[in-house]
Amino acid sequence: MENVLVSCLTRLLSKDKQLYEHCLRVGNMAKRIAPYLDFDDQQTRKFVIGCCIHDVGKMLLPDDILNKSAPLNEEEWKVMRLHPLLGTQLILREGMLEQDIVDIVRFHHERWDGQGYPFGISGDKIPPMARMCSIMDAFDSMISDRPYRQGMSIQEAKEELWRHIGTQFDLLYVERFLHLPEDLSSALGQ
Ligand SMILES: [Fe+2]
Repeated sequence: MENVLVSCLTRLLSKDKQLYEHCLRVGNMAKRIAPYLDFDDQQTRKFVIGCCIHDVGKMLLPDDILNKSAPLNEEEWKVMRLHPLLGTQLILREGMLEQDIVDIVRFHHERWDGQGYPFGISGDKIPPMARMCSIMDAFDSMISDRPYRQGMSIQEAKEELWRHIGTQFDLLYVERFLHLPEDLSSALGQ
């Protein structure tokens, strides 16, 4: 399955360097957090690969939406919300057979309260790796600068995660993330 990883990362890099770097940062966080989660070696490998390519579907979105230097309007959001499904189709076409990896791509925008997309599934129905990926994805997005806003500080982003426990995020995994040793958790934002 590493061949799918390489082909996705290569295509992400050629499409959009910022998106590529975001995916790599989330994959890097996954690698560093994995020892603190209850995943075995095989699960850890799949978790890291899945997080590295979680946003691969964005590669198929129109450039004017992907690179827009202002907040998206409602119509544009409708298109943006397609990316988990587009990514799932893409990696299945590429020959990805590992369900855990497919599930990270497919479910990383679901929310604990069922208000996420594309399926609106909630709680324990969301695969654990996708639940953890959504936290790291949000964390990296919050601390990253956008053309229309400056990124938050690491402390502000952590408080934001904490505020969204039980609505957007799973308590268990936010706690794991926030209780990482200080040197590790601050390094995750760099
Ligand atoms: Fe995403």
